[in-house]
Amino acid sequence: MFKSIDWTGDSLRIIDQTQIPERLQFRDLVSLEEVYQAIKRLQVRGAPAIGVAAAFGLYLGLRHKPYASREEFLQDLEIQVQYLKGARPTAVNLSWALNKIQQHLKEHPGSPSELLEEALKMAQQILEDDRSRCEAIATRGAALLPDEAVVITHCNTGILATAGIGTALGIVYKAFEQGKRIHVFVDETRPILQGARLTMWELQQAGIPATLITDNMAAYAIKEHRIALALVGADRIAKNGDVANKIGTFSLAISCHYHRIPFYVAAPLSTFDFSIPDGSCIPIEQRDPVEVTHIWNKLPITVRDANCWNPAFDVTPAKLITGIVTEHGILSPPFEESLEKINNKVHPN
Ligand code: MRU
Repeated sequence: MFKSIDWTGDSLRIIDQTQIPERLQFRDLVSLEEVYQAIKRLQVRGAPAIGVAAAFGLYLGLRHKPYASREEFLQDLEIQVQYLKGARPTAVNLSWALNKIQQHLKEHPGSPSELLEEALKMAQQILEDDRSRCEAIATRGAALLPDEAVVITHCNTGILATAGIGTALGIVYKAFEQGKRIHVFVDETRPILQGARLTMWELQQAGIPATLITDNMAAYAIKEHRIALALVGADRIAKNGDVANKIGTFSLAISCHYHRIPFYVAAPLSTFDFSIPDGSCIPIEQRDPVEVTHIWNKLPITVRDANCWNPAFDVTPAKLITGIVTEHGILSPPFEESLEKINNKVHPN
């Protein structure tokens, strides 16, 4: 299995996801600015992978600087944290990782060079944790799949989107590894085709049978191909279980509801935002209209200067969600209650 994001000892090595499926190109990022740009340009994307990248970006921004005091270090830390948070607004994993490191460093006694060492340790821990969270989600989620199943997914939630085997797609990998006969219907995921470019590529590498459809075929595909359930990821989950994920997820959930098939979300606890009551508080990233007026920024498909709207994410209301697969268990509605139970188990008292 390839790693889409890893620490080399000196640089952050990523697979440049804008180059897939044409070529598998690795990039070594050595500065905060390079990491910021890689996140912004979607060279590294997917909520958990963005969190891991930001953690190393912070370390890269702090190293090689001659801080005269601990105060100076912490002041600069704050500037860099705020800068990195601006790279992409919706996936909460980014601010989760940065807040976690900043909090730890504020509380950790020591000189600037000791704090720097701690920042690297924390980033490495966030990366390793993400791998084990993916593994746990995959194992719990695979139990939901029967021995033979056709499933549908949206966007890319696999190896490319995380430091491990993925969330929703990780479940597919695990079930396949267990010998289950799985066939995946993959929404192409307009406007920028994470399904067609990335998920199809991953599934082909793994030898897992997959069928690509355009997003507007999903409802008919569920009916005609006896799709058993949907598995998607998440970028931010509110306290009540509303889920922000790639644009088009809400439509897929409505189609599943109509056909009465389960709609599962898979995400680590780092994707939950306990500070917001519901999905209306989730900031939705608005992206360049060129993604809508052109196919993959290259082929124009409409009139010049077409007016368009390009939200990168939508919010699926909790009432359309059958369950949320986390590393600590599968949450069932009402999510506010099940989430609190899991949270109490993870952080007692
Ligand atoms: O804009 P992207 O490609 O970063 O959006 C990614 C998604 O919406 C994924 O479904 C989500 O981050 C979960 S990845 C495990």
